[in-house]
Amino acid sequence: MVKIFDVVVIGGGPGGYIASIRAAQLGLRTACIDAWSTPDGKPALGGTCTNVGCIPSKALLQSSENYEHAGHSFAEHGIQVKGLGLDLAQMLARKDKVVKQNNDGIVFLFRKNKIEFFHGCGSLVKGGADGWEIKVTGPGAAELAAKHVIVATGSSPRALPGADFDNKLILDNAGALVIPEVPKRLGVVGAGVVGLELGSVWRRLGADVTILEALPALLGAADEQIAKEASKAFAQQGLAIHTGVNITKVTVRKSVTVEYTDSAGASQSAKFDKLIVAIGRIPNTQGLNHEAVGLKLDERGFIAVDDDCRTSLPNVWAIGDVVRGPMLAHKAEEEGVAVAERIAGNHSHVDFNTVPWVIYTGPEIAWVGKTEQQLKAAGIDYRAGTFPFMANGRARALGDTTGMVKFLADARTDRILGVHIIGPMASELIAEAVVAMEFSASAEDIALICHAHPTLSEAMKEAALAVDKRALNL
Ligand code: FAD
Ligand code: NAI
Repeated sequence: MVKIFDVVVIGGGPGGYIASIRAAQLGLRTACIDAWSTPDGKPALGGTCTNVGCIPSKALLQSSENYEHAGHSFAEHGIQVKGLGLDLAQMLARKDKVVKQNNDGIVFLFRKNKIEFFHGCGSLVKGGADGWEIKVTGPGAAELAAKHVIVATGSSPRALPGADFDNKLILDNAGALVIPEVPKRLGVVGAGVVGLELGSVWRRLGADVTILEALPALLGAADEQIAKEASKAFAQQGLAIHTGVNITKVTVRKSVTVEYTDSAGASQSAKFDKLIVAIGRIPNTQGLNHEAVGLKLDERGFIAVDDDCRTSLPNVWAIGDVVRGPMLAHKAEEEGVAVAERIAGNHSHVDFNTVPWVIYTGPEIAWVGKTEQQLKAAGIDYRAGTFPFMANGRARALGDTTGMVKFLADARTDRILGVHIIGPMASELIAEAVVAMEFSASAEDIALICHAHPTLSEAMKEAALAVDKRALNL
């Protein structure tokens, strides 16, 4: 029997599950299909983000940071730790528990919002402006029909040519989150977000980590001043990052040998116990039956959408990692809400310029809006104000004074154009900048706001003051 809905969402990651919740809140009969399974075949809602992305990586980043602090910085606070040891199995089990709490949370939210869940692979059968037939194969096999379909199938790790993932020696993000023993020599291909975050985890736990990056510099999307500061900090921690490399061969025996040319063009070879490959992600379009129904992809293989996430097919929408734009959970969520609103006949808009970026390394890196190099390239006249955490009382009390806050404001109007942070709790501090930019605030608006003392957020106020060369504590 065909089950009929107003909206069927294919994919239960942050894009799909949030779209489902908003659609249901708006009174639409909603179903969500998701294929993710635990090793014992049970459904695990939340997609890449919950299962092998944002959540488990942050759990391990926290645990490994605690371990590093206990080993290296507690003594300065007068805390003596004797017999410090690593119980990696317990650390991984805790991470799994955090993941499960998030999986279960989504199941609860689906029940609360009366969203029907189908465990399996969803594909488009046929349809048009009047509605679509969708087939579910797998444990929750079913035939569904709906006026609207939202495709939120996410992305998968890109493999290095000639080095397929086996998740024993050559690891993708999923494999890199379950290494049972700290590898002595860990290689990482790609100094992007995954490489830096997961490279940091295993370095803190004792691995000798070497990162091989093709581009001449780290963090190409970040503000150059911040990226340079980050490179310095990572080098001091002992992360060996080689930029400008060209990997020519990967050989897998009992260990992995990577042959490459370095930035000077010299041939090099490095042997690793494990190799994480983190060179970007590719959209998940297989299994959707996109060719048969005529769902167009763009030249890079993503589902082609307009600014409102409409695909080439009537009443078929696509959101999140499977479409253009940054591969971020919160971007997927914003698009999910926006599409649900549009289906319900409401107005909605996602502004990519105010989507924040956060990299959860130590120090954390976060930004929103334009970088200094983007403003220069666009010929926009701006003023910059920076404030170092070294001059912030709370950062000194925390014992974490690396980095700075940097404001970029329009030279004529003082409107905030970009905010860049490297340092403690950058991930939380950036929210103030996002709010300010959403409200078209000027740097002076932030400078005039009372910030509690002593807080890291005072560095935001001081950097905003520095735009007008009137920082108080510098
Ligand atoms: P996904 O989360 O990939 O979910 C898609 C779901 O659809 C999956 O469950 C998949 O199994 C399912 N699916 C696919 N095809 C079908 C089908 N045909 N039928 C049914 N189901 C299907 N982003 C952040 O913002 N912050 C972070 O800290 C962060 N950390 C990350 C760490 C790592 C290691 C990685 C790899 C990524 C991280 N990301 C982070 C990125 C984030 O995970 C993604 O941007 C986000 O998950 C995208 O959400 P999505 O809903 O589009 O897709
Ligand atoms: P990425 O795009 O961030 O970085 C990939 C890196 O690999 C780039 O620096 C690239 O130049 C390099 N590279 C590509 N091919 C290479 C090769 N052959 N040899 C050496 N280097 C090569 O991709 P990553 O790290 O895989 O992450 C995927 C996405 O997941 C990110 O773009 C991000 O959107 C998301 N993510 C977000 C996080 C966050 O928000 N904190 C955390 C982790 C991932």
